[in-house]
Amino acid sequence: MQNGLLLLSYLIGSISFIIGLKMLSHPDTARKGNLYAAVGMTIAILATIFLFVDQNGNHLGNYIWIFAGLIIGTVVGTMAAKKVQMTAMPQMVSLFNGMGGACAGIISIVEFRHMLHAGIDITTEPMQALTILAGLVIGTVSFTGSMIAFGKLNGNINDRVLPAQQVVNIGLLLIILAILIAMLTGITGVDVSLLFWALLGISALYGILFVMPIGGADMPVVISLLNSFTGVAAACGGFLYDNPVMLTGGILVGSAGTILTILMCKAMNRSLTNVIVGAFGGNKAGAGPAADAGGTTKEISLSDTAVLMAYSKKVVIVPGYGLAVAQAQHTCHELEKVLEEKGVEVKYAIHPVAGRMPGHMNVLLAEADVPYEKLLEMEEINPEFAQTDVVLVLGANDVVNPAAKNDPSSPIYGMPILDVENATHVIVNKRSMKPGYAGIENALFFQPKTSMLFGDAKKVLQDLVSEMKQM
Ligand code: TAP
Repeated sequence: MQNGLLLLSYLIGSISFIIGLKMLSHPDTARKGNLYAAVGMTIAILATIFLFVDQNGNHLGNYIWIFAGLIIGTVVGTMAAKKVQMTAMPQMVSLFNGMGGACAGIISIVEFRHMLHAGIDITTEPMQALTILAGLVIGTVSFTGSMIAFGKLNGNINDRVLPAQQVVNIGLLLIILAILIAMLTGITGVDVSLLFWALLGISALYGILFVMPIGGADMPVVISLLNSFTGVAAACGGFLYDNPVMLTGGILVGSAGTILTILMCKAMNRSLTNVIVGAFGGNKAGAGPAADAGGTTKEISLSDTAVLMAYSKKVVIVPGYGLAVAQAQHTCHELEKVLEEKGVEVKYAIHPVAGRMPGHMNVLLAEADVPYEKLLEMEEINPEFAQTDVVLVLGANDVVNPAAKNDPSSPIYGMPILDVENATHVIVNKRSMKPGYAGIENALFFQPKTSMLFGDAKKVLQDLVSEMKQM
């Protein structure tokens, strides 16, 4: 009966993960989806704590330790999530992901010791041993890799490429494989404990060296990849404990992470290998030459911008990473409302990789209560630019760079972009002529229909709103 209840809780947990994940695919339902999955997870955890009984009829016990851990984790996690700035979200995801990898690694350490203490020769239980060792390697790589990714995104660690970095990395992978074979077959006769700790150490080193050379700004892709590693490591734990909810959760995280990695690479028109060995956008070592767009730029004043926008029929706002840096989403929403009061139709053009993490712009604008139906994906908005009077580019750069279409030598060549140049007027707000993430110049800024409105996005928007309110 108890076991039936436990399985039912796991079923509820697994279903809630699947429904939650599905709901995350739309901003309208994302918050609820997150909540459903969290409730499912809580049910699964509580059911394991109170309903699980082993073959000898014993409950888990250790309640003080378990609840102390749960309480500390909940307090730290809640405080961190409440405090984190939107722009620091990728590092936080990386840190939390690293914790998941560490948990999977620790499970493997504990279970390996159990096997040894029970006097089991691991060559006689190859499947169980392989699951433990795979969890150890993948979880550890994910842990140390995520910690390096966190350090890089937080500005504590610089991109560093060792001489013959790729050869060293491949060498480490081969050593990991050799140790795994040695342990599972017992052919070397070396003590398995020694091999186990060597495997742990080399996996930790591999995680560090794998992430170290990757360009700092490529971290979101790498984090998504490490996220999928953590999922696979957790799924190993699910296999080990014959725990369906852990298995479902692990597989969902593993596959979602893999799909997201592929989608991000596709949206940037780059291969995963290029992301991993390219050092693109970090120290710029692998970035292509900055195209010299040349020409002169034209500046526009705040009052001219206000007049131009207020007397337009249709304005499209293109938000980018700079909007997030300036935390200007609320002021941006205010500008949209003022324009609408003046009878102007306002829409937002959302590029899939605008900003620095998946869904960055959707999350940012949702935080400011911008209605979802005003956020149009690239494919939907591109045909509308031709009927747009003014495009206001706010802290975006690469996602509106025509070099992606016209310059085969550009590192972003082939990346789909927002066709803002089809609009009648383009106003670009940024602080300087500095390039964006890809480190290249943008010919859009030099086109006759483009005007530059220099300044911090928040300040410019505040001034624009007050200027317009007086009109
Ligand atoms: P970027 O090309 O990075 O351009 C952002 C621009 O914002 C910069 O040129 C910067 O110019 C300006 N800016 C910074 N702070 C500002 C502020 N306070 N006020 C006004 N402007 C400010 O951004 P994007 O167009 O959003 O493109 C995103 C890039 O990130 C793409 O290349 C994409 O491939 C890459 N990327 C995205 C992701 C995901 S999943 N979103 C993941 C990895 C990489 P100034 O310094 O002159 O102000």
